[in-house]
Amino acid sequence: MSEADRIFKPTADMIVKAGCIIRAGGLVAFPTETVYGLGADATSESAVASIFAAKERPSFNPLIVHVPDMETARKLVEFTEQGEKLAHAFWPGALTLVLPRKKDSGLSLLVSAGLDTVAIRMPNHPIATELLKASGKPIAAPSANRSGQISPTQASHVAQSLPGKVDMILDGGPCAVGLESTVVDACGQQVGFLRPGGISVEELEQIVGPLIFPDDAPDAPKSPGMLTSHYAPTLPMRLNVNEIEDGEILLGFGPDCEKATLNLSPSGNLNEAAANLFAMMRELDRDGFTRMAVSPIPQDGLGLAINDRLKRAAAPR
Ligand code: TXA
Ligand code: MG
Repeated sequence: MSEADRIFKPTADMIVKAGCIIRAGGLVAFPTETVYGLGADATSESAVASIFAAKERPSFNPLIVHVPDMETARKLVEFTEQGEKLAHAFWPGALTLVLPRKKDSGLSLLVSAGLDTVAIRMPNHPIATELLKASGKPIAAPSANRSGQISPTQASHVAQSLPGKVDMILDGGPCAVGLESTVVDACGQQVGFLRPGGISVEELEQIVGPLIFPDDAPDAPKSPGMLTSHYAPTLPMRLNVNEIEDGEILLGFGPDCEKATLNLSPSGNLNEAAANLFAMMRELDRDGFTRMAVSPIPQDGLGLAINDRLKRAAAPR
């Protein structure tokens, strides 16, 4: 069977099958609004272990647990006051909440790498929701790519990145947001910012006031999975480029980019740029060039998350 054969249209029948695969301990790649996830039963230690094996993840970083509704979420974690507000404002959506794990959650220990907290999210995508309901399980899912590579925003990216490693890939077309969820620590009174993503700092601060950032304080919460080099294409990267050099291929942004081979958003729209980022990085990762150059991206709204991913893609490997 070729890899393309593993990609399926998400008909009602296929989603029922996918749910059976999850219950049996298998791996299903599925679309969310952020990126494609590599899903497994979050209550099964061996199913969660097979996620790490398939991705060749170097260490057991904790994973995000996906749920279809608040009722399921409440069985797994304790909702704090801030957690309650954030879930109300942004779920379903691109926000992951780190909250205290319930003693009787039934979740695998590996899923939270032995921590007494759990990262949890209700995705805003009908196929993800239907799969969660069909399986009847909370689903642990990191991005469906080999560790360190660019995150997948289309079903074909999953097949390329994890050949032969996934039992089923559900094809939901391109992801609308295109960047992973924002991760925050909502265990305490003041919310800690752990990873930039699809929900901006500005949006969060409107709901819960000023956030604590990892650099603010030595004891500010940290996200264990934030590797310096990540999302890396094969070509080296150079950022904030206004003038390209010989041998470079330019990923542009905004109206003044005549030399760009691809443009994240010719009109300078950051949401459009986020949705295009990973697919365009893959497309420009071509032979015959020495480096990928990227135009400057403003640091506001989703620009913070875009620049975070670019910085990691450009980091020494
Ligand atoms: O958009 C997304 O978030 C995608 C889709 C599939 O939902 N998933 C995703 O998962 O990006 P992953 O495994 O690549 O990222 C999980 C992030 C890591 O930075 C990890 O360190 C952090 O969440 N995390 C997980 N559990 C945590 C915990 N208990 N405390 C602090 N950080 C945690
Ligand atoms: Mg990832």
